[in-house]
Amino acid sequence: MWGRRAARGQCSLMMLLLALHAHPMIAGKMKIVEEPSTYGFNNQFMPQRNKLQPKMKPSPISGPSHLRRLDGKCFSFMESSYKYEFCPFHNVTQHEQSFRFNAYSGILGIWQEWAIENNTFVGMWMREGDSCGDKKRQTKVRLVCGRSNKLVCVLEPSTCIYSMMFETPLVCHPHSLLVYPTLPESLQRKWDDVEQSFYDALITEQGYNKLLKSLFEEAGYLKSASEIEKQNKSKVTKFDSLGQCQEHYEKLSKELNTLEDLLIHHGIPRERRVGV
Ligand SMILES: *[C@@H]1O[C@H](CO)[C@@H](O)[C@H](O)[C@H]1NC(C)=O
Ligand SMILES: *[C@@H]1O[C@H](CO)[C@@H](O)[C@H](O)[C@H]1NC(C)=O
Ligand SMILES: *[C@@H]1O[C@H](CO)[C@@H](O)[C@H](O)[C@H]1NC(C)=O
Repeated sequence: MWGRRAARGQCSLMMLLLALHAHPMIAGKMKIVEEPSTYGFNNQFMPQRNKLQPKMKPSPISGPSHLRRLDGKCFSFMESSYKYEFCPFHNVTQHEQSFRFNAYSGILGIWQEWAIENNTFVGMWMREGDSCGDKKRQTKVRLVCGRSNKLVCVLEPSTCIYSMMFETPLVCHPHSLLVYPTLPESLQRKWDDVEQSFYDALITEQGYNKLLKSLFEEAGYLKSASEIEKQNKSKVTKFDSLGQCQEHYEKLSKELNTLEDLLIHHGIPRERRVGV
């Protein structure tokens, strides 16, 4: 198994270099995936494949247009007895390669948003995977230049947060991952203004970063806190008692009334809101 171990060592090293480059503080925490979790073994009579129930839909495809051609393709990587599968703009899954009837399969994340560093797309965040204690599994897939499209390594730098590296010739050009050229003109003008304000020392670096972050949210590259909250709220709520349910119902009715008033106020017929 020396070869496999060597490959894994190389993977950690590459990831470490990438991490060091970006965040010197995180690098120390890198840990190699050791044991697969035994999560999901309790229902032994269900074929595991059927258990891959995504908690949400993937975000719309966004970012550099030349990466759209990765949509609809999946790439896999074998490590020990596991097969990892990365479907860009869709999901990351893990499948135990075993003839056991209850072989483990799981979702390590659903496509959510871009990882942007230094105004450059560096990877895809796949979040809201299978539960892991009170958290959800999530995976950051780094995009690096390579000869062919290939998933090259998998690590678990901290519990249930996975880190993968995807090689592709699509990111070899030095400008291939810049954020600015992918933006609509209106957002480019906004960005220009932010640069100008920073240059004129009207805003601090912190303010500059904050403004750019909200610009990336506006472009749909990052999820805003309010979107994440909305995602939270849309989850089915469980009630322990009828009273709780009643309370929730009243709250929702009030909200609905407010929204209806708003529609009336703006002269929007109610039917129009369906299916937008
Ligand atoms: C992951 O994405 C692929 C590609 O779109 C899709 O075929 C597959 O059903 C998805 N898997 C899950 C568990 O959602
Ligand atoms: C950020 O990107 C610019 C060019 O886009 C580059 O010159 C600079 O070295 C990068 N900085 C870091 C910390 O990577
Ligand atoms: C979403 O819900 C989880 C728990 O279900 C909570 O820990 C988290 O803070 C919530 N996030 C937001 C943005 O409300």
